[in-house]
Amino acid sequence: MSADSREKSYYVTTPIYYVNDAPHIGHAYTTVAGDVLTRWHRQKGVPTWYLTGTDEHGQKVMRTADANNVAPQDWVDKLVADAWLPNWKALNIANDDFIRTTSERHTKRVQNFLQKLKDAGFIYAGKFEGPYCVGCEEFKLPGDLIDDKGQKLCPIHSKPVEIVDEDNWFFKLSDFRESLLKHYKENPEACQPESARNEVISFLEGEVRDLSISRSTFNWGIPVPWDTKQVVYVWFDALLNYATAVGLGDNPDSEGGQKFAKTWPADVHLVGKDILRFHAVIWPAMLMAAGLPVPGKVFAHGWLLVGGEKMSKSKLTGIAPSDITNHFGVDAFRYYFMRAIPFGSDGSFSWEDMGARYTSELANDFGNLASRLTAMIEKYCDGVIPAPANGGELAELLSKTVSTADNAMCALDFQGGILAIMDFCKRINLYVTETEPWVLAKDSANKAKLEEVLYNTAEGIRALAVLLHPVMPETCEKLWDSLGANTLGSISEQKIGEVANWGTLPAGSKVSKSAPLFPRLEE
Ligand code: MSP
Repeated sequence: MSADSREKSYYVTTPIYYVNDAPHIGHAYTTVAGDVLTRWHRQKGVPTWYLTGTDEHGQKVMRTADANNVAPQDWVDKLVADAWLPNWKALNIANDDFIRTTSERHTKRVQNFLQKLKDAGFIYAGKFEGPYCVGCEEFKLPGDLIDDKGQKLCPIHSKPVEIVDEDNWFFKLSDFRESLLKHYKENPEACQPESARNEVISFLEGEVRDLSISRSTFNWGIPVPWDTKQVVYVWFDALLNYATAVGLGDNPDSEGGQKFAKTWPADVHLVGKDILRFHAVIWPAMLMAAGLPVPGKVFAHGWLLVGGEKMSKSKLTGIAPSDITNHFGVDAFRYYFMRAIPFGSDGSFSWEDMGARYTSELANDFGNLASRLTAMIEKYCDGVIPAPANGGELAELLSKTVSTADNAMCALDFQGGILAIMDFCKRINLYVTETEPWVLAKDSANKAKLEEVLYNTAEGIRALAVLLHPVMPETCEKLWDSLGANTLGSISEQKIGEVANWGTLPAGSKVSKSAPLFPRLEE
């Protein structure tokens, strides 16, 4: 984002992840989606801000640290440094900021926010008695639980809940039921997909209870400013990250205050469907209580399943991203999850499906097209892109592709966006098959036609590189280099709105052969 830009940033967030363990592909799924969404917007020329981070307080993290005989702060410091940050780097995530809930910039702003809510009369002392799932870090209602031979289990973690009986501070969540209902009824885009919105509306149509927002039986958390024997409930602390990271509560003239003005409200909170209520009910109520605007959209995606169940480390079904990227590469990983699973639905990961798509869509349709083109330009045109040609039908199809893909990507339909782009890739393959440049090359009388075909193919691939860049940055950069397209600037500078200008790739660009974009898989 340019420092002097007055335009509000398109602000996207991921959940902040618990650092009781290393990341698995469920976490990577959301973070890659956010990365594709923000990279797409950056290439539209929109000022963008992308935040991710870690949720470090609460009993879940504290108990894991205890079990490992390590102080909680040392535990989280080590995991963030050794596992989380390197994981996002390896997956080529271009986040603008990384927030940790143990950082002072967060804890101070949380305390200020809480104090303001208390001063405004939205917080009162009460007693909480009821079931709590440490896996979810959530106070449960008896109706939420499943009965296993008399034992009450959390339906998400399949583990027994604990009974909490504490004097706590409460937030008047119930005061906001009507305003929230009105908000979701009037703004269908505020909670998506439709199934998530319906779930939230029906929850709000039932009884909404006030929320305990502090805990008094352990101390791994942010002290409640007026009652330091209690720590802030981990979700109340964590939800605030989206706003503390961009300067919540800071003086409007300060750096933080100016950042807040340019960023808040968030445009999209990406969340898994298991944490929808926190984001679509509790979080906007907290903001309403503080007189702040609520987020533009909460989008709940589905779960990656293993054996029909939510994949998770606690159920020992967690797969590390590196297990997959070591075999398929980072870009194939990013592509596969966005392409194979409709965003908003559950999906099962399978090695077979991923292997099949890698070979047919990435290696054959896309990678081979690029290597055939560079080989032909080298062989028939001395390695130099010929003069621009009229793209005709291909150019028309490209215009339609860009508009379909743009609409889909902006609506978080990553699958639809990628499909439109890959259909265009298929069409260029067909064009090459139909025009048979290797036959044209046999007769010098066909030189003009041959150059037209090769230009159009190269130009189509130039567009593919730009359109797929948000999904597969590294591969598309390589392709950009091998097309000799750097005279147009770097690939990140290419604008989605200009991709369809047929004739962009300049004549004379020097093409170079590169290693296959998607090498044959080892067994
Ligand atoms: N710390 C909270 C979020 C606080 S946000 C203010 C939390 N952390 S988590 O690490 O348990 O989960 C983070 C996200 O990962 C959630 O959106 C969750 O849905 C997602 N996933 C965890 N397992 C998943 C799958 N198997 N599949 C897809 N996403 C999954 O909740």
